[in-house]
Amino acid sequence: MALIDRFGRLINYLRISVTDRCNFRCIYCMPKEGIAWKPMEEILTYEQIRDFVDVAAKLGIEKIKLTGGEPLVRRGLDRLVEMLSQIKGIKEISLTTNGSLLKNYAKNLKKAGLSRITVSLDTLKKDKFRLISRLGNLDDVFEGFDALFDAGFENSKINTVVMKGINDDEVIELVEFAISRGVDIRFIEFMPTDTVKNWQSYFVSINDVKRMIAERFLLKPSQKSSNGPAVYFDVENISVGFITPLSKNFCSQCNRVRLSSDGYIIPCLGHSDKIDVKSYLRKGDLEGVMKAIIEAIEIKPKEHALLKEPIHSSMSSVGG
Ligand code: 5AD
Ligand code: SF4
Repeated sequence: MALIDRFGRLINYLRISVTDRCNFRCIYCMPKEGIAWKPMEEILTYEQIRDFVDVAAKLGIEKIKLTGGEPLVRRGLDRLVEMLSQIKGIKEISLTTNGSLLKNYAKNLKKAGLSRITVSLDTLKKDKFRLISRLGNLDDVFEGFDALFDAGFENSKINTVVMKGINDDEVIELVEFAISRGVDIRFIEFMPTDTVKNWQSYFVSINDVKRMIAERFLLKPSQKSSNGPAVYFDVENISVGFITPLSKNFCSQCNRVRLSSDGYIIPCLGHSDKIDVKSYLRKGDLEGVMKAIIEAIEIKPKEHALLKEPIHSSMSSVGG
């Protein structure tokens, strides 16, 4: 079976937020005092997530991304990875993380069947890292990179949100770092959310970032296609991707749907519509789960409206 929406897009990619909690308070995600976490009893259990993916895979979902919050603050994530890797039809399970806890978990995640890891890294400077993440320590993230290589993960990626006056002067160094580690890197535009004031003051067009990189490196259009919105170029031994949700929306290529940690299907990051699926999962009503997924795909909008309306929560609650 395949999930095809009203606009002919094939939806085969599911992002699952396993928790809205995080050990960082990044300036592009949350206010410094943080946000109110959802009560634990609202959060889907691993068994409920497994049941959801079981149904989603039957409908045509093939790739899974685990996100948060910070997914590794939820205990036993390797257990979930193992459960999901046994589901027929799931070809790839990947993880997006801030990297701070990877040193403790990389090996077990690999053993459990995780395919790939994307680490968020916005700066190579310790004090700036503190400023951006508010609570993080850059050394933990570097150790996380080491752990990821030691565990044998290949095809890892770095995600960098570029912010004016904060890290836009480090773009070249970040590309050099990625080259030295042999990992791909993607530059992402700051997206407006309700939880961040003055997003405009931080905004940098990724076209400008691409221009800066092109002055220094030869950018060769890459054959590489990702699960989604990045446009890739080969640079030396790696690929560099550019993600431009605002300056050039890529919604016509969208292949994804999201499951929030508290059991709602979110058809589009840029709209607040969501469909409750927790009530079916709690009852074990898998027929209901199937109907909810189909309904979510039916209402998936043509494109986001982020310039008119910011995301109505933080990235940590919708899964980035
Ligand atoms: N704009 C763009 N990306 C964001 N992320 C979080 N908040 C934002 C935002 N406002 C992304 C970052 C981070 C990941 C967890 O979510 O890439 O690394
Ligand atoms: Fe945590 Fe990621 Fe949000 Fe930073 S961006 S506060 S690491 S969820």
